[in-house]
Amino acid sequence: MPAERLLDLFPAGSTTDDDGMLTIGGCRSDNLAAEYGTPVLVVAEDALRDRAREYRSALTDRWPRSRVVFASKAFPCTAVQRVMVQEGLGLDVAGGGEILTALRAGVDPSLIVLHGNAKSTEEITMAVENGVGLVVVDGPDDVDRLEAIVPAGRAQDVLVRIIPGVTADTHAHVLTGHEGSKFGLAPAAAAELIGRIERSPRVRMRGVHAHVGSQILEPEPLAAAVEPLRALGEFEIYDLGGGLGARYTWADRPPSVARYLDVLSAAARSELPAQAEIIIEPGRSMVASSAATIYRVTTVKRGAITFVAVDGGMGDNLEVALFNQRFEAGIASRLNAADGEVVTVVGRHCESGDVLIDGVPLADPRVDDLLAVPATGAYCFTMSNNYNGNRRIPVVFAVDGRSRLVVRRETWADLTLRDVE
Ligand SMILES: Cc1ncc(COP(=O)(O)O)c(C=O)c1O
Repeated sequence: MPAERLLDLFPAGSTTDDDGMLTIGGCRSDNLAAEYGTPVLVVAEDALRDRAREYRSALTDRWPRSRVVFASKAFPCTAVQRVMVQEGLGLDVAGGGEILTALRAGVDPSLIVLHGNAKSTEEITMAVENGVGLVVVDGPDDVDRLEAIVPAGRAQDVLVRIIPGVTADTHAHVLTGHEGSKFGLAPAAAAELIGRIERSPRVRMRGVHAHVGSQILEPEPLAAAVEPLRALGEFEIYDLGGGLGARYTWADRPPSVARYLDVLSAAARSELPAQAEIIIEPGRSMVASSAATIYRVTTVKRGAITFVAVDGGMGDNLEVALFNQRFEAGIASRLNAADGEVVTVVGRHCESGDVLIDGVPLADPRVDDLLAVPATGAYCFTMSNNYNGNRRIPVVFAVDGRSRLVVRRETWADLTLRDVE
């Protein structure tokens, strides 16, 4: 693959130096690897901020009474949440841990939207005590808990999550709005719960919510959730969820934010009350392209298949094993692999399924090369884990040729920190 095409997948502003070395946020990959070790997740801070601004202005232009709320689960790291807060976004959180990091990131609690299909009493208590703006009720048990927890004289603002009955062309594991989904309520059950909330002194009905799924590469299914929401009645707020797909491979052509919001706002104009507030919750499409992971090649094994093994894998990127997400890669010092060798990039974990990329051309891969994988900003940090005693990897922000550590690598000592015997 020509270097320019691969460069397109790296964060905006990525280039190659005179000697061919990949730079991200103006920082050379070899310098980043030397300073922070490998694997390292590098975020181009400017690219991240630009995307947040693009989302905010594109939505405000089309629907002035609106809010962009970053789906923290896509990259639940305090520093990333802080960037979103600084850029004027709210934060969607899924559970107590993300409430904590959101608060640490400095968010105004009234701009937090709490989700979860199985919220615990502890989490709902945290939300109420910290003044979380909106709790998205997933079913009657959430309302039972809120009625027990919210103090007399107060009422918690809520949205009710409905199942819009919409499907989309994406992996079944990341669909959420189809009939039979574990998330939210079918319209008839939602209508009944809305009636109950409207009579409750402790819970205040503000609006409805739907989320169709993730990595959806056409805007139409996302817009198709608007009508089922409207069918439940007139509300102050309609939260239309997230779900826009990101660009992982040079063959992917996700819609631009502008096109996605053109289609969504057209549906809103035809279905929703003009004075209503619209919320959107982008996660993946907000952060995926702003980051890349740099690994070190540990082994090159040639046989029927050439395996290039790196010092990471499913411990830092579960997207492949979870839903077959395809990634691309290049040798950081030789991105141009037009006549490269087609290899299988594998991780260091004890699973044959620990394949990062099944079939990618690399230019003459060798032990100790740096391998750069673009578009790892979404859900990779989220699901990083300690499988095989893996130490979770650091996150580094790079901007204008300067870099800083925002999450350190786990230490060997961290791995036994929770042992009590
Ligand atoms: C309720 C809700 N909102 C927003 C999102 C973000 O979706 P995406 O990362 O695909 O934009 C999710 C992801 O699962 C979600 O469950």
